[in-house]
This record gives sequence, C-alpha cells and structure tokens, in this order.
Amino acid sequence: MHQTFETARMWLRPVAEADIDALVSLDADPEVMRYISGGAPNLRSDYEQGLLARMLVHADQAFGYFSAFTDAGEGTYLGWFHLRPSVFDSSMLELGYRLRRETWGRGLATEGSLALLDHAFEALGQTVVDACAMPDNAASIAVMRKCGMTYAGMFNHPRLETLQVVRYWVRSTEYAAK
Ligand SMILES: CC(C)(COP(=O)(O)OP(=O)(O)OC[C@H]1O[C@@H](n2cnc3c(N)ncnc32)[C@H](O)[C@@H]1OP(=O)(O)O)[C@@H](O)C(=O)NCCC(=O)NCCS
Repeated sequence: MHQTFETARMWLRPVAEADIDALVSLDADPEVMRYISGGAPNLRSDYEQGLLARMLVHADQAFGYFSAFTDAGEGTYLGWFHLRPSVFDSSMLELGYRLRRETWGRGLATEGSLALLDHAFEALGQTVVDACAMPDNAASIAVMRKCGMTYAGMFNHPRLETLQVVRYWVRSTEYAAK
C-alpha cells in the first residue's frame, strides 16, 4: 500500500526516511514549533533516535504520516499531515498537520485536512476523527473548525501529562451532512 493524495494544490505521499532533512528544517523554525514545544526544535538526532521511526510505523498502511509537496514531482516540500491512531483513543484516527511557515495563511492545512477526512470516512469507514492542539494555537483550532470539527473538551495530553490540550472531533454523519 502506497497511499497518496492529490488535492487542488498539493501532492501527499507517505513520509519516508529520505524526508529527514526536510523534517529537521521544518522543525528548526521556532514559529513552527511555538505551540508544540514552546519553540524548541526537533534535532536530527531526535529524528534518528526515534522520532522518524514513529512517523514511519504506518508507512505501508492507508493512514499514517504524509509528506506534502506542491506537485507529484515533489517540487517544493510544504510540510506534513497525519491521520494516525488517536492519542486519546487508539481505535479512532487523529488528524494533525505541520507546515512550513512561508506556506501559512493560504488554506493549505484545511485543504489537506479535508482530503484526509474524506479518506478516513469514505475509504477507511471511520465513524469519528479527532484532533488536538494547545488551547492558544488559534490557527490550528481554526483549521479544525473549518473542517467541521467541534469542541470535545480540554484534557491533559495522554502522553505529556502536564500539557493541557483542547480536543476537537467530527463524526462521519456530521461531516457528510456538510
Ligand atoms: C496550523 C497550521 C498547519 C495552519 O496552516 P495554514 O495552511 O495556515 O491553515 P489554513 O490557511 O488552512 O487556515 C488557518 C486559519 O487560521 C486562521 N488563523 C491564523 N492565525 C490565527 C490567529 N493567530 N488567530 C486566529 N486565527 C488565526 C486563519 O485566518 C485561517 O482561517 P480563515 O481561513 O478562516 O481565515 C500552520 O499554522 C502550522 O503549521 N503551524 C505550526 C505547526 C502547528 O502548530 N501545527 C498544529 C499543532 S496542533
């Protein structure tokens, strides 16, 4: 299985080991990492020592992490999206995204997210997809809302117990009705 997505302005394919330079460069921008780590970068050593392996776990499945490019020729790297088992409930999938700063504000996160949600509900038969963000990550929460997600509550992040996050979700029935 080599799941790809083509949207109006993007090409998505599973994250690969060869993406490590692009991932390190993406995470080197403190603005990109602001609502993830407080601005601290993920270093190449972090990727080599487990981060990349975690992103590759589902690479041969119809969900997981997907690198986004401007076109199928992989012209310009834009960032990534994920549709991975949810940190709150591994029986459902969780939407996520991280894009290079120069791409922000053009609707690309929403465009890619809608492609992944279409896929989750139509091809994968999911009944609900969730997403989470730090409460002050307004851009991320705006993307969730634009995708039809609604507020599901504020929780301690299951893996980072001291971190409070807002959770949003959308059911297939609500999504289909939009
Ligand atoms: C979150 C992120 C992926 C959004 O990407 P994007 O392509 O700019 O998103 P979109 O253009 O589809 O939508 C962004 C929306 O947020 C809004 N927005 C942006 N900054 C905002 C702010 N500070 N306050 C309120 N709304 C804001 C935009 O106006 C837009 O909404 P609109 O279309 O209704 O005007 C991008 O900012 C990013 O990669 N951030 C760093 C990584 C990150 O935080 N990932 C999410 C972790 S939970």
